[in-house]
Amino acid sequence: MYSAISKSAPLLARGPSFSTTAMASISRITVIGGGQMGSGIAQVAATHKHEVTLVDVSQEALDRGKAYMAKSLKRVAKKKHAEDEAAQSQFVAEIMSRVSLSTKPQEAVSRADLVIEAIVENLKVKQDLFAQLSKAAPQQAILASNTSSLPIGKIAELLDSQRKQRFIGLHFFNPVPQMKLVEVVRTKEADQEVVDSAVAWVKAIGKAPAVCKDTPGFIVNRLLLPYMMEAIRLLERDVASAQDIDTAMKLGAGYPMGPFELCDYVGLDTIKFIVDGWHKDGEGLKGNPLFASSTKLDELVKQGRLGVKSGKGFYDY
Ligand code: CAA
Ligand code: NAD
Repeated sequence: MYSAISKSAPLLARGPSFSTTAMASISRITVIGGGQMGSGIAQVAATHKHEVTLVDVSQEALDRGKAYMAKSLKRVAKKKHAEDEAAQSQFVAEIMSRVSLSTKPQEAVSRADLVIEAIVENLKVKQDLFAQLSKAAPQQAILASNTSSLPIGKIAELLDSQRKQRFIGLHFFNPVPQMKLVEVVRTKEADQEVVDSAVAWVKAIGKAPAVCKDTPGFIVNRLLLPYMMEAIRLLERDVASAQDIDTAMKLGAGYPMGPFELCDYVGLDTIKFIVDGWHKDGEGLKGNPLFASSTKLDELVKQGRLGVKSGKGFYDY
């Protein structure tokens, strides 16, 4: 459990009014969306002793999310307790015991200190979700989105000004248990105290924060998406095969994955949502040819080849 305030500072009572000073302790986390990102965020928070509720629209999605977490934790356990299977099982069970599953978002956020949304990359769906959550979450809760590309301020658009002050971006990277960075995205409306609490919390879960303004793609995706799209266009122009482009970037530039392995890992639907959104009306990116649609990407998504998560993408898994 992490407390963002010093031991000597008085804890703020839970209640309907907003705090304007220090943030009360962050111990109860609700993660909405049990896909690859949400389950990873839930896993990391539970590993750091938080009580976590993972929410999705269907029980089936939650069961899949739980299986992702168990599989990932087993990898960690095998390294931590090599040769001791009982200790490995105990390690996994202890962390998983802090994770509850729910299909009822309003109920799941009613006691949360921090709510992190990791659902489909669609502005309207995210806005509607937060409008619903804001009726049920404690007034002092921090609300955060893990969006890859949507303006945080726009996701919070339907909320009142007090909620907007406690709304930020917390952008994790895939695979969450392994990737160290979390971008903490500060909107114009966000309270500095909320940003500070989020930064401290990110450190407390063993990650490294990078604070940035609410601009399309923040830091990492603003650089990564042009790279991915340029790789797809190299393939469309038949400059080289996907395998050779991947090999080139791994062996020639030292990247851990080639661009097509990375696209498949992120999810081709997510990449399409990102570039289409920016090309259509991204602040300052509208019409930018770097984000023009790609026939190849569109075809793969249409065929349901979404990458690793669907078993097929640029490659078969
Ligand atoms: N859970 C737990 N541990 C994991 C894991 C998981 N899901 N995935 C990998 N690991 C661990 C492994 O156990 C291993 O640990 P040790 O080194 O301690 O043994 C380590 O990570 C390396 O794993 P592997 O040996 O299996 O494979 P690898 O060396 O190829 O690394 C990788 C895998 C970490 C994913 C690496 O390929 C990599 O860093 N790829 C790039 C990932 C990346 O760029 N992510 C960002 C995507 S963009 C994004 O997320 C933002 C967005 O909005 C779209
Ligand atoms: P995913 O497709 O694996 O999972 C999304 C989950 O959200 C699904 O389980 C779906 O059932 C659930 N969902 C959809 N609508 C919902 C709703 N209204 N309420 C509750 N659950 C709902 O997607 P993902 O890759 O985990 O991405 C989730 C978010 O994280 C997106 O905004 C994405 O842009 C962002 N993100 C993705 C990556 C990545 O590499 N994939 C990295 C960082 C951020």
